[in-house]
Amino acid sequence: MSNIDGKIVLITGASSGIGEATARLLAAQGATVVLGARRLQQLEKRVAEITEAGGVATCRALDVTRREDVQAFVDFAEQRFGRVDVIVNNAGVMPLSRLDALKLDEWNRMIDVNIRGVLHGIAAGLPLMQRQRSGQFVNVASIGAYAVSPTAAVYCATKYAVRAISEGLRQEVGGDIRVTLVSPGVTDSELADSISDEGARAVMRDFRRIAIPAEAIARAIAYAIEQPADVDVSELVVRPTASPY
Ligand SMILES: NC(=O)c1ccc[n+]([C@@H]2O[C@H](COP(=O)([O-])OP(=O)(O)OC[C@H]3O[C@@H](n4cnc5c(N)ncnc54)[C@H](OP(=O)(O)O)[C@@H]3O)[C@@H](O)[C@H]2O)c1
Repeated sequence: MSNIDGKIVLITGASSGIGEATARLLAAQGATVVLGARRLQQLEKRVAEITEAGGVATCRALDVTRREDVQAFVDFAEQRFGRVDVIVNNAGVMPLSRLDALKLDEWNRMIDVNIRGVLHGIAAGLPLMQRQRSGQFVNVASIGAYAVSPTAAVYCATKYAVRAISEGLRQEVGGDIRVTLVSPGVTDSELADSISDEGARAVMRDFRRIAIPAEAIARAIAYAIEQPADVDVSELVVRPTASPY
């Protein structure tokens, strides 16, 4: 029996890409997975597929930019299953562009989803995990949490922030609660669809040719979860072998 078996795992951004792959993999390893994102129909399809494959899954629509949605997501899981073992703060957007394009709405969206979304996950789950005296946050950052490149200044800033928040949280809550930062390199998903800027889109199309499958990141998340309770895998960077960045 793996250390994942029987755990209650909440995943934001589970309607596609890394979140979807993580839900599938963890469910196959015996976790009960609770999927959250805005597209409810997509979530319901994922839940049906996991259930069909013999797993246990449920879902709830949420927008991570709304604190009350994230709290309701965590409360729903607690009421249904009695506890929450892991929250994977994975939802994210990446509308890349140069700063001089002044796409302020997109900057704000990245700040709201990528930073506030993670903080809302922490705010919703931390009191419960402290009461339980156990739990784990897995925050999904990026290789953009370690280096900046043109068109990615704001995206990278949000991911540097997720890295800083994760490390601060780890230092404050260590003892009972584990904190893991997982930073993917270019990975096959819908992420680049949020780029409205033509130039950034073209560069990204080229860059994404070496993308690794979302399952590669799901395996890293599973690795961090399956460790014994006294082992905290604090940071994992997972990128294509061919990636220079
Ligand atoms: N793919 C890569 O190359 C790569 C590299 C580094 C880091 N990452 C990070 O990996 C994470 C997952 O992205 P992905 O690559 O799997 O991309 P994806 O396929 O686009 O998935 C993003 C997920 O986030 C959800 N989401 C977006 N805005 C949301 C909101 N306001 N509230 C709730 N959910 C929201 C989307 O669902 P709905 O649209 O249904 O809400 C979707 O399920 C992100 O944090 C991303 O920054 C990805």
